[in-house]
Amino acid sequence: MVVDVSLLLQTPRAALTRVARALRPGAPSPLLGATVCVTGASSGIGEATAKAAARRGALVLLVARRSEELERVAGEIRAEGGHAAPYVVDLTDGDAVDALVADLLSEYGAVDYLVNNAGRSIRRSLELSGDRFHDFERMMAINFFGPVRLTMGLLPTMREQRFGHIVNIVTWGNQIKAPKFAAYIAAKSALDVFGRILGREAFFDNVTCTNVRVALVATDMIGPTEAYRDRKAETPEHCAERIVRALEDRPVTVNGAVGSFFEVLNLAAPRLSDFIAAEMSRRMPDSAAARGEVS
Ligand SMILES: NC(=O)c1ccc[n+]([C@@H]2O[C@H](COP(=O)([O-])OP(=O)(O)OC[C@H]3O[C@@H](n4cnc5c(N)ncnc54)[C@H](OP(=O)(O)O)[C@@H]3O)[C@@H](O)[C@H]2O)c1
Repeated sequence: MVVDVSLLLQTPRAALTRVARALRPGAPSPLLGATVCVTGASSGIGEATAKAAARRGALVLLVARRSEELERVAGEIRAEGGHAAPYVVDLTDGDAVDALVADLLSEYGAVDYLVNNAGRSIRRSLELSGDRFHDFERMMAINFFGPVRLTMGLLPTMREQRFGHIVNIVTWGNQIKAPKFAAYIAAKSALDVFGRILGREAFFDNVTCTNVRVALVATDMIGPTEAYRDRKAETPEHCAERIVRALEDRPVTVNGAVGSFFEVLNLAAPRLSDFIAAEMSRRMPDSAAARGEVS
């Protein structure tokens, strides 16, 4: 039973270990020699996360659809002395995800860490979504069903080896509940809840999950959204450092100040938070892409 409840000490232990590592430059990260699967590793946050994990000595398993980009990222990691293997998979194809799980388990026995990062967003008001039910289906396919299927495939061996950690890259929108993002945020919220419940069910098998509620990051994803053009955004590399820290420390959630503020406001004064969100939404109309005016 002592072993079973040891996760309760995970947070203070992680903080102490981090201090100890800072005092001993060059001390190994828990990722050294571990297998870390990063989805959406062909660009943006996933690429930066894979590179940061590889620098800590992990063998990174890179998943995405664009093979040339995956080869480029794997090549750059190897050029720095790291270890990486690319896997070209469309995560919205259930059979392809099952085949990926089979490949990973036969090659490595188990995956120690999984970063469910691959995703897409859509910013479009409900008013413009009446004849676009496929927006909701597409968002669930890549942001929920894909990562859930991959996680479910890798989970049994994590439980058997009594270690595993899953990081879900979700969004501060889960806390803010930002207008015009209903399809995207609903899918990311579903993944957030799935991860939280997984962490509870697998608690005594030492398998944990962190939901990283990412704010605005300067990647290809935010390009089509005119409203974000002049907004301050984090670099993918900075965001990746926080994700790798979540892999090492295994907290339950990683939140930013703005997201946390809105989460509290949503609880304490829900109608006031509706008013603020509605007013902000009115000032930031649908983009030309959302209106279908550009491809
Ligand atoms: N940027 C932000 O401001 C922001 C904010 C909050 C949360 N996020 C989340 O951060 C994650 C990474 O996004 P990013 O900003 O780094 O954008 P990005 O550069 O566009 O990266 C998205 C990644 O997902 C992969 N992907 C998309 N569809 C896929 C599919 N069907 N199968 C396999 N891989 C697929 C893409 O690879 P391929 O195209 O090669 O398949 C790409 O590597 C996403 O989950 C996003 O929702 C981003």
